[in-house]
Parts: sequence; structure tokens; C-alpha cells
Amino acid sequence: MSETIEPHTFIILGGTGDLARRKLLPAVYRLTRQDMLDRWCILGVARGEDMDDESYRAWVREALVDAGFDQEELAAWCDRCLYYQPSGSGVEGWKSIAARIDALEQEHELPQNRAFYLALPPKVFSTAVTGMGAAGLNKSRGWTRVVFEKPFGQDLASAQDLNRAVHEVFDETQIYRIDHYLGKETVQNLLVFRFANPIFEALWNRERVEHIQITVSEDLGVGTRAGYYDQSGALRDMVQNHLTQLMTLIAMEIPVRYDADFVRNEKVKVLRSIRPLDLDNVVFGQYTAGRIGGEEVRGYQDAPGVADNSINPTYVALKLEVANWRWAGVPFYLRTGKRLPRRQTEIAVTFRQPPVPLFANMRFGNVEPDVLLLTLQPDEGFSLLIDVKRPGQPPSIDKLPLTFQYDQAYEPLQDAYVTLLHDLLEGDQTLFVHAHEVEAAWELYTPLLAQRFPLHKYAAGSEGPLASDKMLARSGHVWRPI
Ligand code: NDP
Ligand code: BG6
Repeated sequence: MSETIEPHTFIILGGTGDLARRKLLPAVYRLTRQDMLDRWCILGVARGEDMDDESYRAWVREALVDAGFDQEELAAWCDRCLYYQPSGSGVEGWKSIAARIDALEQEHELPQNRAFYLALPPKVFSTAVTGMGAAGLNKSRGWTRVVFEKPFGQDLASAQDLNRAVHEVFDETQIYRIDHYLGKETVQNLLVFRFANPIFEALWNRERVEHIQITVSEDLGVGTRAGYYDQSGALRDMVQNHLTQLMTLIAMEIPVRYDADFVRNEKVKVLRSIRPLDLDNVVFGQYTAGRIGGEEVRGYQDAPGVADNSINPTYVALKLEVANWRWAGVPFYLRTGKRLPRRQTEIAVTFRQPPVPLFANMRFGNVEPDVLLLTLQPDEGFSLLIDVKRPGQPPSIDKLPLTFQYDQAYEPLQDAYVTLLHDLLEGDQTLFVHAHEVEAAWELYTPLLAQRFPLHKYAAGSEGPLASDKMLARSGHVWRPI
């Protein structure tokens, strides 16, 4: 990270929401503690009438204390946080925001460098952007950048509509679509792992790799977000974005340069090489009551805010085929679910067996394939599972790991939002999602949204529906345990 970021104003549209409180404000605070920010202000914008600068600062202070920071150290920092409730609605409201930003910049002697973070309900993204354009908030004498939270669209048509609306006002170089997985250190490390270690590159193809599994399992249920989640489900919430991003980083070709355009173009090429999904290779599930970590948990349909008899999937498993020269014939299995036994994000690359099984007929027992495990959370690191002869007689072989673990080598990893906000303020789009990526991913999954699939029930705390195991068994594979 660079030492300082240009002076700027960070405008959080939806500055009193859950995302601002839990993620954005703590991330900006961490950047200041790392001496990344020099001259800056935060302007929280929301419609609430019962707030002013003072009460907003108190709210921000409480958010940061909840995030574990020291109250004493916060006072001066919070003085740079301001609150604004737009006066008037529609374009008038946006013009009033523009006037407030102008005044604030003069007051604090800040250049017109502006980052707008749309921490707003997704249904208002489009009208907000149009209002910003009408109020002239898309340009300034410095830089203007705009961040979109996920979900970016609900399907291909809505994502295209939103992209069109946004492009009428902002240039793609100003647009930062967030997928917070891209800000995780371990996800960024996938690129370093692949492209800084040519020994692995030589193995990274259909000649050597037999299949790949990408798992993002969560022990948590739907929590307090049923209003959003019951309309979205696991395919929109996790697969279209986070799992697909992981998959593209694993499958992409080596970019010519490590910069936003080159990296993102390679990811788009992967998405466009994926064969349309075969409906036999998709499994949807929903959790019922069960036990996790010794505790009884209720089923999805009984969670507060979930519609009675909801058919919303909380689990998805898929088999993808990438029809290009590197990967043709190598299955990519993706699965994600809520209320699985534990939180775990893992990519497992299974290598081909030796062409001649030298040890299979001896007393060495079953020789398993070598597996490279990239663990993204919680025990961040990687292991290469290889065969080792167990000392002594009778001869036998064990599968043992060559392991690297982040927590043994480094300080605790920082939250993804710290990295992403840093890159936003630096103007680096590499870890943000391009319009073409978002549309190519929706193009792949939108046909599934129109289908009625069987919804397989699985007990909370189990490893997902049996149908998912059967899907892999058809190709002679088994899921790794969660
Ligand atoms: P909240 O409902 O907690 O906050 C929404 C914020 O937007 C509030 O400040 C609210 O204040 C303001 N707001 C609400 N409606 C409008 C409107 N019609 N016009 C203008 N302002 C409005 O939502 P979250 O903070 O949870 O989520 C914000 C965005 O981030 C969403 O797009 C969500 O999908 C995304 N997101 C959130 C995550 C999270 O962990 N919370 C994770 C990933 C993505 P007021 O009503 O006073 O105007
Ligand atoms: C969010 C999803 O994008 O990612 C949530 O909306 C999910 O449903 C979360 O729980 C998982 O993120 P992480 O960083 O905890 O793996």
C-alpha cells in the first residue's frame, strides 16, 4: 500500500446503514491508523431527520467502539465525520448534496476528489445515479469515483439496465463494483500463488489436473437479513459473484500485465468459455432444523422474516465445464450453503493419478491422488497433500501435507474492506468487477433462475443434500468433507 492517499471527501450514501457501521467506517479508520489518509472528510448522507453532525459523530464513535477500537483515540477522528440530510426530493435533493459537498470542501480546504459509496438499497441504485448526473455530481475538478455494493442486478436484463443507466452518467473508469471476496488477502494471493510460482503454472492444465472443487460453506443461517435473502437465495447471493470470482481467478490465463484491464479481460474470457449449464449438473437445497456445534437451530422456513413455505435455496452445487484449451474436460465443482457444519472457504485442485499405478498392487494400500488445498478462510494458507512412505514394515503410504499457514508467518490479516477502500481511493480498479464480468456471470446463471428445480432439503449441520453427492458420483468424484 502507498503511504498516503490524495486528500478527498468520502461520501457514504446510506451513511447510517448496517454496512457503513460494520464495514465502511471501521475500514476507513484502519486506513488512518496505518497513516494512509492525510486530509479527508466523511460525509454520511441519509434521509433521517433526527441526526445532525454531533449525533452522527456519536453514532460513528459507537460503531467504532463496537468494532473494538479505543474510545479515547476516536474523538479527533470523529470530528471529520459530517452528516447531511438532503433538502427536497429527486434532483433537488441531489443538488442540495452537491452544494453541501462544495461548501464542505471549501471549509476543510479539500480538493474536489470525491468517492461516492452507494451503501443504499439496490433498488435505488439506478435512480440515485441518474439524480447524481442531473446534479452534476459525476464530474469535478479533481477525481470522482462511484462504488456499487452487491447485488449488481438480479439477473442479466436488470444488470444490463443498471449498467446502461450508470454508463449514461459515469465512465467505466470511474465505476467500482464491489465483490468483497476480491479484497481478501487470500483471494489476492491466488494470483501471486499462480503467477509468481511458475512451478505450479506448469501443472495448471487439463494434462495434470483431474478436477477442481470450490466450497464456500457457512455455519450461519440467514440471520437478520431475511428480507433481502429470501428474495435472492444462494445462487444470486454467493454463486453469481463470490464463487464465480474465485473460479475465474483459478481458471484465467496469465495476464500480460498486472493491471485492471489485463486482469479483468482474462477473467471475462474464462466466463465466456464456460459451457451453458446442463440442468442435471445443478442442485438446489434448503436447510431444515438441525444441530450445529451442539446447538439446536431452526430450519430456514422458520427463520424470522422468511415467507411461509419459501422455496428459496440456501444451498447450491454446480458442475461447470470450461471449454478452452487449458481446461476442456476438467470439471469445476462449485458449492455453497448456509447452516453447513462450519465456516470454510476452500479450493481443492485434485491432480491426475500416475499413468501406471506402480504401488497399487503392492501392500501399500490405496494410493489417493495428490491434492492442492487453498484455504481462504478460516485457517488461511495452503497444503499440498502428497504421498509419503511410512517408515518401517509392512510398507505403506500416507497422504501428508506440505503446509503454509498465514497465521504462522504474518500478523492477523486485515478485513477485505480496508484493501478495497484503499484501492478505491488510489484509483486502482484491479480488485473491482468490470461491467463485462458482471454481465457474463449473469448470462451464465440467468437461465437457471427461470427454471423450477427440485429443492432438496438438508438438515442444518449436515454437509448438504444427498443429491449433491450423487451429482459428483456420476463423474466418479466425491466432495471433500466440510
Ligand atoms: P441498511 O438498510 O442498513 O441501510 C441503508 C441506508 O440507506 C440507510 O442509511 C438508509 O437511511 C439509507 N436509505 C434507505 N432507503 C433509502 C432510499 N430510498 N433513498 C436514500 N437512502 C436510503 O442497508 P445495509 O447497510 O445493510 O446495505 C446497504 C447496501 O449494501 C445494500 O445494497 C446491500 O445489499 C449492500 N450490502 C450490505 C451488506 C451488509 O453486511 N450490511 C453486505 C453486502 C452488501 P435512511 O432510511 O435514513 O435514508
Ligand atoms: C455476503 C453474502 O456477500 O457474503 C452473505 O450476502 C454471506 O450471505 C457473506 O454470509 C459471506 O462473506 P464472508 O466474507 O463472511 O465469507
